[in-house]
Amino acid sequence: MKIFIDTADLDEIKEAASWGILDGVTTNPSLIKKAVEKMKARGKQISMEDYIKEICRSVDGPVSLEVKGRRYDEMVREAKILYEKFNGVNNNVVIKIPINTAFSPDDEQFEGIKAIKELESFGIPTNATLVMTPEQALLAAKAGASYVSPFLGRVDDFIRKNIGIKHGKMDYWDYEAIELIEQEERKKNIEKGYEGVAAINYGDNGIYSGVELVYDVIEIYEAYGYETKIIAASIRNARQVRQVAMLGVDIATIPFIVIKEMISHYKTMEGMKKFSEDVVEEYEEIFKS
Ligand code: E4P
Repeated sequence: MKIFIDTADLDEIKEAASWGILDGVTTNPSLIKKAVEKMKARGKQISMEDYIKEICRSVDGPVSLEVKGRRYDEMVREAKILYEKFNGVNNNVVIKIPINTAFSPDDEQFEGIKAIKELESFGIPTNATLVMTPEQALLAAKAGASYVSPFLGRVDDFIRKNIGIKHGKMDYWDYEAIELIEQEERKKNIEKGYEGVAAINYGDNGIYSGVELVYDVIEIYEAYGYETKIIAASIRNARQVRQVAMLGVDIATIPFIVIKEMISHYKTMEGMKKFSEDVVEEYEEIFKS
């Protein structure tokens, strides 16, 4: 599994790259905003162009940069600008296009899909972002997206909010337990007939978690041999990374703090402390030559 870092913070990108485990970077307008605010808080003036060029130089792997428009023609124009300005730096730019740029059901729904199709036909690689359902991922693959980004954390947040479960931002979502509870409650409602059973529904149209979303996307892509690479995105904790890795996802894009969570364990620290204390002089001698 490839590991991308989900940040626009150059310090984080450079540090993760120095660990030797980084395969790419994903940014979005909110992550860019956060990075710019951090620079401003430090009293640093930045040229956005130079900053993005430095991101591209800092990693030997794809860097996703997102368009800001919502209409198909705007997004194609912006994608070309981003690609022309930054791909020359390290030949690693991928253009992030929202799968659907609508703000409401009355808006145009297929602007993202059309932009993906057109950009890929020009040879500009795209990453279909803000994907919340397997059906959206199927359409992204049909349009020829190079990458698709199912948003695990946001799907989990949505389901938990609907059920009324309070949680911290990085809390693991125990969707398997919820599925079991649902099954039990449905059994109890069987005598009420179909409506009673259907009324017990803790998922989002059959999806109970971001991890299940990734599972379904993998199944669909494998069934038809789609080559679109799947990036598990909106990751909130190390256990989610483990679960998508067990599913064999192509890539996980992980926040800096979660990459750090992946390396840490209390018993490893405790063991390390004991090993350090137990080094005897005889053993120490070996390293003195
Ligand atoms: C994906 O590429 C996005 O940048 C990202 O994963 C969004 O994550 P969030 O839901 O934590 O904002």
